[in-house]
Amino acid sequence: MIYKIKNDVYSVGVKDWNRRIFDELIQIPDGTSYNSYLLKGSNKTALIDTVDPTKADELLNNLNKLDADIDYLIINHAEQDHSGTIPRILDRYPNAIIITNSKCKDLLIEFHLIPDEKFKVVGDDETLDLGGKTLKFLITPWVHWPDTMVTYLQEDQILFSCDFFGSHLATSELFAAEDIYKSAKRYYAEIMMPFRTIIQKNLEKLNNLKIQIIAPSHGPLYNKPEFILDAYKDWTSDNTKNDVVIPYISMHGSTQNMVDYLVDSLIERGLTVKPLNLTYNDAGELALELVDATTMVIASPTVLTGPHPSVVYATYLANALRPKLKYVSVMGSYGWGGRMLDQITEMISSLRVEMITPLIIKGFPKDEDYKKIDAMADEITAKHEKLGLIKK
Ligand code: FEO
Repeated sequence: MIYKIKNDVYSVGVKDWNRRIFDELIQIPDGTSYNSYLLKGSNKTALIDTVDPTKADELLNNLNKLDADIDYLIINHAEQDHSGTIPRILDRYPNAIIITNSKCKDLLIEFHLIPDEKFKVVGDDETLDLGGKTLKFLITPWVHWPDTMVTYLQEDQILFSCDFFGSHLATSELFAAEDIYKSAKRYYAEIMMPFRTIIQKNLEKLNNLKIQIIAPSHGPLYNKPEFILDAYKDWTSDNTKNDVVIPYISMHGSTQNMVDYLVDSLIERGLTVKPLNLTYNDAGELALELVDATTMVIASPTVLTGPHPSVVYATYLANALRPKLKYVSVMGSYGWGGRMLDQITEMISSLRVEMITPLIIKGFPKDEDYKKIDAMADEITAKHEKLGLIKK
């Protein structure tokens, strides 16, 4: 599908309505798109980013329909969902030159065996004139790889941001509606959150640009860019919200009973609670809740001598995503023993958190166990109060 964005600026990428998992890791319930942009200057024509190689034919058909002859192929990021169709583009347009930064060039040579002479390397703030359309390149590392950059079209004030500000959402609309918020946040949580502090610096770098449109390479574009810029400022800030996220599994009801009791206790004390049964909630939902949460309580039964494998996966993921959590605790149940608490504690070594007194019990909870859950709720509440998160 081709969309005209401005005079001689087109979206020529492809929707992937049916894709449901990305990197064989991340569930994407609403599909995605691989956005690619064609810019026709009075002297030169440029294509910004390509599409996933499974969709190469559709991109080439769109370029044919616009009678495009590509002089420059601008690649903001080397990951294959944007670079995978470069070899097909170079076959079709053998005179095209790839414009990118040095780190991206190195990766593209490794991934696609492209010869060195096909590249022109650009640095931060460098510009390229297509004839009435001037492109400025800004190096923005770690959104979300070391090679990432963005491209700004000065005359039309469009920022082509590749993964930065993207969302996994296939939609017929060119521009985002307000319901984009959850998709964009989930996308941020899954791939951007580990680089939160460097993203703060990259956001500052964009402050000097007048931006009318943000055109990412996944999901819809933003013609009200402050919506997504403000959201990113909030998500990457050091502030957390009054949220307790509880990823858990229960096999025979003991852990479920403990979680249910804790949820009610926390709600009574004025906290917002997000229990996530890992049998029914995917990893993206956990990532999403971790963007704002102050506290996480991991709850698991004991399987053989350790936590349930689904809890192991969720804990590993939470540790890798490095959310801005401040407190963690562990609760659960065992039949005859085990090292569940030690194993979970070892798995969260990347989180800069304080441990709330954990609670591991034998069998089904009894009166004294409920008192200990109340004590855990009191301890969490006191921490949230000290941070000024509970409104009285
Ligand atoms: Fe959409 Fe990092 O690729």
